Amino acid sequence: MKDKTRVAIIGCGVIGPLHAECFNANDDAEVVWVCDLISEKAQQLAEKTGSDVKWTTNYKDVLNADDVDAVSVCTDHASHADIFVESLEHGKDTLCEKPLAQNSENLDKMLAAKARHPERICGGVFQHRFDPIYVELHDIISSGALGTLLNANTQLRCYRSDSYYTDTPWRGTWKDEGGSVLINQAIHYIDQLLWHTGDEDKIKGTVKNIAHRNVIETEDCAAAFLEFKCGAVGTIEVTSASHLDWFSRISFFGTDGSIEITGDKQIFVKTKDKEQEDLILKRLEAALEPIQPAVTGKKYYGPGHFAQVADFIEAVRERREPSVTLESAAETLRAVFAIYDTTRQAGQ
Ligand SMILES: NC(=O)c1ccc[n+]([C@@H]2O[C@H](COP(=O)([O-])OP(=O)(O)OC[C@H]3O[C@@H](n4cnc5c(N)ncnc54)[C@H](O)[C@@H]3O)[C@@H](O)[C@H]2O)c1
Repeated sequence: MKDKTRVAIIGCGVIGPLHAECFNANDDAEVVWVCDLISEKAQQLAEKTGSDVKWTTNYKDVLNADDVDAVSVCTDHASHADIFVESLEHGKDTLCEKPLAQNSENLDKMLAAKARHPERICGGVFQHRFDPIYVELHDIISSGALGTLLNANTQLRCYRSDSYYTDTPWRGTWKDEGGSVLINQAIHYIDQLLWHTGDEDKIKGTVKNIAHRNVIETEDCAAAFLEFKCGAVGTIEVTSASHLDWFSRISFFGTDGSIEITGDKQIFVKTKDKEQEDLILKRLEAALEPIQPAVTGKKYYGPGHFAQVADFIEAVRERREPSVTLESAAETLRAVFAIYDTTRQAGQ
């Protein structure tokens, strides 16, 4: 086996530099190429990432390069599908940022490409599945410690200024972003909800643009009702027009116990059995440490990108599925699409 897996980052905007940092922090990987349509961004990231890192404005250069084993897709939502599909066709293992696509048609193209190229390792980013506290939470819920699950809810209140949308043309558009707060920010918490609860069976929602009406065509508020396959029912409530910079909450209520965790990692645990309650609380609190801080990116991205990149590289080297498979990332995205679809069907 080669000493290191040689990686190319396509898209050097907000998240691309964090991917470069994560791949280079991994002993088994090295970033060898970076690419962005905007040459300054590509050049800047190449210089920051390493003296031998090559850069280009044409992603086809990266896909045609013999010295690239794996590709990380960090571009805007609408460009993911083409780059991802071509990347698999050019024999590159490929990790794609969330959301996999901005519409069902592109998502289907990506899944079909994987089916045509089962030899390729590929997956989608949901880095919070690797945050130690959520790994612990997953284990606790899966063990049945909360009894029969009754309710599973998530909320995200964040603030996105008008200029956040107007400065970057793809944001706030159905064609290119595919929606806004739901598909871009809240998707992380919807993924958590589905991951811990075991996917939804029925979903119905409403999306609205309340405070960004003259700025974006997509939504800044959304709510949804879910029926999970396990029988529990739940809700999603989100907005990007809040006075709060970023506040998330994820809650699970069962017949024997309840757990709620906020984005700033306030933990609430209540179970029938006091001994069990102390044990769960201790496990969750212990999982708050140690957290490897990212040098690049926002605090609420969490520590998970490092671990997800490490998992992806291990999957590439062992030729196994990554922990967040393409299908599983697609399942979460389909839940998001269902909220948009049910809103449209209701004529809103
Ligand atoms: N997981 C997370 O926490 C997280 C956080 C932020 C962003 N993201 C996701 O990462 C992706 C990128 O978001 P961002 O905020 O970095 O966007 P951005 O607009 O800041 O950066 C995207 C970059 O991709 C480049 N690009 C677009 N098409 C290209 C092409 N065909 N070839 C080469 N470069 C191209 C653009 O020029 C731009 O610099 C999105 O899918 C977003 O949802 C994920």
